[in-house]
Amino acid sequence: MPPFRCPLHSECVATILVTGGAGYIGSHTRYFLEKRGYSVLVVDNLSRGYKEAVPAEQLRVLDTRDGGRMEQLLRDERVDAVIHFAAYISVGESTQAPELYFENNASGSLSLFEAMLRAGVKRLVFSSTAAVYGIPQTVPITENEPYAPINPYGESKVMVEKMLEWLDRYREFRSIRLRYFNACGAEPEAGLGERHDPETHLIPLILRAIQTGEPVTFFGNDYPTPDGTCIRDYIHVSDLAEAHIHAVEHLLRGGQSEVFNVGTGTGHSVKEVMEAVERVTGKKVPHEIGPRREGDPPVLVADSQKLQAALGWRPARADLDRIVSDAWQFAQRAR
Ligand SMILES: NC(=O)c1ccc[n+]([C@@H]2O[C@H](COP(=O)([O-])OP(=O)(O)OC[C@H]3O[C@@H](n4cnc5c(N)ncnc54)[C@H](O)[C@@H]3O)[C@@H](O)[C@H]2O)c1
Repeated sequence: MPPFRCPLHSECVATILVTGGAGYIGSHTRYFLEKRGYSVLVVDNLSRGYKEAVPAEQLRVLDTRDGGRMEQLLRDERVDAVIHFAAYISVGESTQAPELYFENNASGSLSLFEAMLRAGVKRLVFSSTAAVYGIPQTVPITENEPYAPINPYGESKVMVEKMLEWLDRYREFRSIRLRYFNACGAEPEAGLGERHDPETHLIPLILRAIQTGEPVTFFGNDYPTPDGTCIRDYIHVSDLAEAHIHAVEHLLRGGQSEVFNVGTGTGHSVKEVMEAVERVTGKKVPHEIGPRREGDPPVLVADSQKLQAALGWRPARADLDRIVSDAWQFAQRAR
């Protein structure tokens, strides 16, 4: 695809503001937006992100809840669209302190939307999650599955999704809600990868076990799945980043609001992921089996046909060994 030219001011390239762009998925998306030729700005308060993940000239250390400064920035930089990643992401933390999640994820998003409305910026891509479905009734999961979150993190994302539905209806505020499944992998050549602290995601935890010799705990091996471990849909972070570019271009072209799942449509069990790590690294994974975690459904796999049909997106890096290999390269550099 040729670089997208802004339809609003014909001589220049669109300016995209990425909130949470110093974090895992945001930093990859920023990188792909820049490669595609966009003018990119990142807003991050660095509470959970890394300033090295963003070129200094693009980074504004700012909190999305600071409505006045956000409005000013949106006006000064003539922002055309916002991709909104900034949020807290830990399910466990959200059960210990739900108020943090309602304040930062829900209320923080509302502050941002208010600033955008005041500045006249009405296009937004939102990081939603499979957690809005809770324990789904049907797998693969389509976007028609009802909202049924089972933790405050998922609920905070449902709240934002509902705000966006009403803003679309009454304020011509157009948004694409992307419900991601398990983001993973890395872009090691760009020095980008997954570094959550604390880390709760499976692949970096397995890689860390290999690096430290400390066993990783797998939660449950008696699920109703072929090998007894949970099955998830692992989506390469760079494929996810490209989904955001498709989404933002749809909005810049004047497209309507939509909601899409983003996954590969293929599930891998915890045991299969461990085996892929052993193939890629040539090392045995020290591990132990713990009890099941409350609220972990046996199988979560996305049906992403809607996104593929509507925007022409395809997961180009879905091979599990490729995902693990990219994550492993990054983990070795980051140590
Ligand atoms: N990682 C996944 O597998 C996954 C799955 C589904 C949805 N998501 C969603 O994707 C988004 C990004 O996830 P991630 O894994 O990159 O998380 P991350 O923690 O790596 O990145 C989030 C970034 O947002 C910043 N931030 C948080 N609150 C802020 C605020 N009020 N103002 C400014 N910056 C703020 C943090 O400093 C961090 O850099 C989140 O909204 C998350 O809910 C992630």
